[in-house]
Amino acid sequence: MKYVIGVDLGTSAVKILLVNQYGKVCKEVSKSYPLIIEKSGYSEQDPEEWVEKTLAGLAELMEQFDEDINDIEGISFSGQMHGLVLLDENNQVLRNAILWNDTRTSKQCQEIYNVVGSQRLLEETKNPALEGFTLPKILWVKENEPDVFERASVFLLPKDYLRYRLTGNIHMDYSDAAGTLLLNVAKREWSHEIIEAFDISADFCPPLVESHAFVGTVQAEFAQETGLSEAVKVFAGGADNACGAIGSGILSEGKTLCSIGTSGVVLSYEDRNNLDFEGKVHYFNHGEENTYYTMGVTLAAGYSLSWFKDTFAKEEAFEQVLAGVDEVPAGSNGLLFTPYLVGERTPHADSTIRGSFIGVDASHERKHFARAVLEGITFSLHESIEIFRSSGKTIDSIISIGGGAKNDAWLQMQADIFNARIEKLTSEQGPGMGAAMLAAYGCGWYPSLKECAQKFIQTSKTYDPIQENVEAYKKLFAIYQQVYPQTKELNEQLREFRK
Ligand code: XUL
Repeated sequence: MKYVIGVDLGTSAVKILLVNQYGKVCKEVSKSYPLIIEKSGYSEQDPEEWVEKTLAGLAELMEQFDEDINDIEGISFSGQMHGLVLLDENNQVLRNAILWNDTRTSKQCQEIYNVVGSQRLLEETKNPALEGFTLPKILWVKENEPDVFERASVFLLPKDYLRYRLTGNIHMDYSDAAGTLLLNVAKREWSHEIIEAFDISADFCPPLVESHAFVGTVQAEFAQETGLSEAVKVFAGGADNACGAIGSGILSEGKTLCSIGTSGVVLSYEDRNNLDFEGKVHYFNHGEENTYYTMGVTLAAGYSLSWFKDTFAKEEAFEQVLAGVDEVPAGSNGLLFTPYLVGERTPHADSTIRGSFIGVDASHERKHFARAVLEGITFSLHESIEIFRSSGKTIDSIISIGGGAKNDAWLQMQADIFNARIEKLTSEQGPGMGAAMLAAYGCGWYPSLKECAQKFIQTSKTYDPIQENVEAYKKLFAIYQQVYPQTKELNEQLREFRK
């Protein structure tokens, strides 16, 4: 039997999967690491932790592997996007990595708009300047830690640094480079215009490769430490959202993913590079060569539900909190929730907006509130679907993974609100599986990622829209959309009372 390894370098942990040639996950190891939060809005990690925990995880996985180590043919990576790792001329890390969920860079985002212009930025990078992206972080270091910036000779993203340490070779793949704001996404090359506008030297940006590109082998010392063969082929890998899409089979036009974790993502495959979403959704290179995906992000998706549980039912399990939501009719008897607990990204990039319950009535019980929370999260994700549809995309079937795929009532609700067939997968591993598939494809097991997906990914259940609910949700969504503009000003006034 042949095997590949998929490493998903996440924000809270690294998850490592050993996958056989039929797509079966044979072993799974996870090692967590902390966030370093020095101040409110800051979020950093020590890159050395990623390396140590990945090596320890690989060693644990190999300890449990009792077949010939040469049967493990390839390894590839998925990684948290946007995080800035700065290296000096000897490729030594200069400071902690500044992560995607660090929001210290509002001033630098404004600076990017002032220098480049918002329209020109969109034309060149296909994306707006958001605090989470990499260029604002580079500018923050340049302004606030000039001595560090002076010594920086190249920047990498989290999984690229990890892979560099394993192989000794420096690269970045297109899907992750797309989230830096330094890439011309459509042309698939570093943007000379942006690089020059901020006085960044061309070799500060690493060589670009495809996600399935072979980029080296594991250096002898790490092969020895983990038990991997020195001959195992290393493939570049991709951004976690691109890998999540690959690992769910989002590899042809019309395929759409709804993934609910702490944040929620609606992601749609795109083979055109010339659509204009006016920056309302992210437009990134896929991990499949020469294709793209567009993506809307709800910042507090699963987080809204865990907030609700922790605040009102801390001791109870999620199943208990959600008990009875299927008895409540669509619309929660007139109760509406907006999930803006930590601000929002899509369609309103607004860090000041906050959530609301509208229409609270004496007849409402906890189950109405629980259902309203699920509906509010799903309405927010539906905003992204509506942006895709209004651009001419057909979205009639959506694969649901993560927290939203764990509850039957929520899956049916997604079908009714999105007005699309919802598919649940037999085994959903998301980004780690996508990384393993990149290795399988890189090893030549399959002529394309699509063919690999046909073998590796199966649907276990589908949920079709119920017409009566679809009609009710159309009306409710129109009301939901009015809540943002009508509460924006109120939330700006309330801001001074937030501690
Ligand atoms: C995407 C984003 C997050 C991170 C999480 O733009 O910021 O989804 O990739 O790892």
